Amino acid sequence: MNAIPDIKGAKATETSSVIALEDITRSFGLVHALRGISFSLVPGRALALVGESGCGKTTCARIIARMDRPTSGTMLFRGNDVTTVGSGTEEKSYRRAVQMIFQDPFASLNPVFSVGHHLVRPLKLHGHVKGRKGAADGVDALLESVGLDPILTAHKFPHELSGGQRQRVNIARALAVQPEVLVADEPTSMLDVSIRLGIIELLSGIKRERNLALLYITHDIATAAHVAEEIAVMFAGQMVEWGDTMSVITDPCHPYTKLLLSAVPDPYQPFVPGDSVRFLQHAEKIRQISRPSSDGVDKVGPNHFVRTLGEAG
Ligand SMILES: Nc1ncnc2c1ncn2[C@@H]1O[C@H](COP(=O)(O)OP(=O)(O)O)[C@@H](O)[C@H]1O
Ligand SMILES: [Mg+2]
Repeated sequence: MNAIPDIKGAKATETSSVIALEDITRSFGLVHALRGISFSLVPGRALALVGESGCGKTTCARIIARMDRPTSGTMLFRGNDVTTVGSGTEEKSYRRAVQMIFQDPFASLNPVFSVGHHLVRPLKLHGHVKGRKGAADGVDALLESVGLDPILTAHKFPHELSGGQRQRVNIARALAVQPEVLVADEPTSMLDVSIRLGIIELLSGIKRERNLALLYITHDIATAAHVAEEIAVMFAGQMVEWGDTMSVITDPCHPYTKLLLSAVPDPYQPFVPGDSVRFLQHAEKIRQISRPSSDGVDKVGPNHFVRTLGEAG
């Protein structure tokens, strides 16, 4: 199963993919935030989008969550073209199927509502529970599934929780809808380093148990390797290298992937950039050599692709 297509040739329409992007671009005036993005998301598997700030990760997430529209390209949902707005029912079913976890766990919770209230609403709205008892049981089950004690947590308000607990509530809320796809946009970057691994492992476990397709967005290639079966390294709006995580991590081919990995002593340990000024200078050099948008893609492994560098200039 080749979850990420060769953008040069194959189409991203394998029957197994729940969402597929084909040659997506997004421009904001002169800023080309995304150029030629193609990948698919498959149930039970995670794809990590990795790259420095400003490379287009959130734009990509917003397009998948239908908070934004591509400038060009095609988006498929269960094989159907959903690039343009569909009928009310289609749109509703898509929005139910695709849930997003945001970077800031506080901003996405309403300070006047209890944790229980945050979870009861989606449970009822989507008809997953009936009656008062059903709702209470549903909330308890959700909280347990994200590692929170229902008795201690359900009646609390967001400000009474730690950042990690809040992010767990956000994950529970997304699960309340019984989605098929989770898009997690840097879900741990605002959390204490000490609790990040717990959240990452929670997401991995949920993906496995619920057979969810997970798009995990991070600037940290070490975390990406920990979570995802496949990695797509993004640079300046393009995917520069993508494929099986093991292959990309152990045999990086694009200079930017090499640069990301060189900042990580051990790719399975959390990434602490030692010398961010030098890192950014290096990245700028790569940006210059990669600037002319290159359409060439080399296949360097069974599921490992790398964009050829454009001519210097
Ligand atoms: N609404 C917008 N209007 C104008 N430019 C935007 C908008 N959203 C994103 N951009 C630009 O698109 C590029 C990619 O941004 P973003 O997707 O947020 O990157 P990342 O999430 O990787 O940090 C950046 O240059 C950013 O300034
Ligand atoms: Mg972002």
